[in-house]
Amino acid sequence: MQVVYHDVIIVGAGLAGLRAAVELAGKHDVAVLSKLHPLRSHSGAAQGGISAALGNAEKDSPEWHAYDTIKGSDYLADQYAVEVMCNDAPRAIIELEHLGVPFSRFDDGHIAQRPFGGHTKSFGEAPVRRTCYAADRTGHVCLHTLYEQSLGRNVSFYDEYQVLDLCMVEGAVNGVVAIELKTGRLLLFHSRAVMFATGGYGKAWKTTSNAFANTGDGLGIALNNGIPLEDMEFVQFHPTGLYQLGILITEAARGEGGVLRNGQGERFMERYAPSIKDLAPRDIVSRSIYEEIRTGRGAGPMKDHVLLDLTALSKEKIAAKLPEIESFAKIYLGIDPADEAIPVLPTCHYAMGGIPTDVNGRVTCDPEGSEVFGFWAAGEVACVSVHGANRLGSNSLLDLIVFGRRAGKDISRFLDRVCLAPLPLATGSADRVREMIGRFQGRKDGETIAAVRSDLQDVMMEKVSVFRNEEGLSDAVDECAVLRKRAADIRVSDHSRNFNTELLEAIELQHMVNYSTAVAVSALERRESRGAHGREDYPLRDDAKWLKHSLCFLGEDGKMSVTGKPVDLSLAEARAEFAPKARTY
Ligand code: SIN
Repeated sequence: MQVVYHDVIIVGAGLAGLRAAVELAGKHDVAVLSKLHPLRSHSGAAQGGISAALGNAEKDSPEWHAYDTIKGSDYLADQYAVEVMCNDAPRAIIELEHLGVPFSRFDDGHIAQRPFGGHTKSFGEAPVRRTCYAADRTGHVCLHTLYEQSLGRNVSFYDEYQVLDLCMVEGAVNGVVAIELKTGRLLLFHSRAVMFATGGYGKAWKTTSNAFANTGDGLGIALNNGIPLEDMEFVQFHPTGLYQLGILITEAARGEGGVLRNGQGERFMERYAPSIKDLAPRDIVSRSIYEEIRTGRGAGPMKDHVLLDLTALSKEKIAAKLPEIESFAKIYLGIDPADEAIPVLPTCHYAMGGIPTDVNGRVTCDPEGSEVFGFWAAGEVACVSVHGANRLGSNSLLDLIVFGRRAGKDISRFLDRVCLAPLPLATGSADRVREMIGRFQGRKDGETIAAVRSDLQDVMMEKVSVFRNEEGLSDAVDECAVLRKRAADIRVSDHSRNFNTELLEAIELQHMVNYSTAVAVSALERRESRGAHGREDYPLRDDAKWLKHSLCFLGEDGKMSVTGKPVDLSLAEARAEFAPKARTY
């Protein structure tokens, strides 16, 4: 098998991976591997904006931003990590501006800012305009800018290379095994440092805003290599997906003045969050929508959705600030949002959990935070944790930029001072990969990938979604066990080498069933409600028992087990505002 060497291998070409690459380029030999062309990375789908207390529209402060993030997280976020992110946010935005991101502007030339859910001033007093944006294409323009910057700095790109496994020697990571999709050729990438920035995993749910590629590959590979996953039970449903399609309708639509209405035309969020109404955090808005539908106040002939009403906004404002949303509504539903309300329903959107890391992106592997030598992660695949049990809208792009950069800086220090020569390459993982591919392609019978994937998506949508309970979650755990067996026994009938997408989907399916099991097992274990994890049978948050992160391990026997990890409450120790308390909006 051909061996390729680079000092650093970054897997994933979204904003976290590219920001790390920009940091490392020029100092070290950096390669970015991505199963997609970089500009198809899912960061590009982020619409509404990126938060930072710049104070361009009104008085704001990083401390208020940290307060909102911690409260929004239902107090599960690690508070030092939140402080790091919110303090760094204004610098990170100005840096993006200098790199070339074409932000929307106020008339005075400053970067424009809009309100987003859960972002407030004066410790929760009223919504604040904190989210910087480029119309409703913020992720798209950030992605293009960082890609250009990476090309300009001579980062080596391996586009359409699917990473299949980590190379590890005595617990240290020093490379990856990848398949070149164009030729089917397997390659070993040898390095001194590996960073995962492989994104999220919403594709395991039937209704999702996530792209087809979001199959949690990085999480599956971590689990297979004995690395636990943190807080997997916390999966965010964005309140406004296009009805029946799940396509994202940005929260900026509400930030710009849109309101949610039930089938009776009532602005129902006034009842659930009297002070910030439609701009409550996403977990609260999504639950409120389902509550309306359950109590018979849904919209449409089936009373099975609600309406996002933008008709109070002028056509000009919609065209200038929400052009993407306008075209989605027209193309997919034949609706002009200036004239008619848009049918919406929550859609699986974002993973709060992931590979545990410290604030420098170093992957950790136990409740004490022991590091995995040579391995970093950042972005949605990682759990720093700045989002805890529920992420605030527009904190995601910020997380990518801040922690992508920090991981890049930390890798640079590591290469300069710690790991001066590459560790010898072990080829065991390459053998495992060859054996797996041979097994799939050697089988004459067996199920199709689509059948197993579709059943998995049904289970996760029905039983591990906005509302959960013991019976549903126990069923989901049992059904995931069966689905894992079925996924192991699928057949890949395409034996060709060039762009064998069936083989690619077979590999993705293995990751999907594994991390979905981790989600179901962790959700069953957590017998309380917190943030996006809403248990009907345990409707209250229980700090005495559950103010802790979960770490889910895949054992050698193939079983998943969950253990706790302490939450960092360092800001609460210094100031009463940050101490856990009942969340009201
Ligand atoms: C949105 O614009 O609502 C999505 C962006 C995010 O999830 O932060």
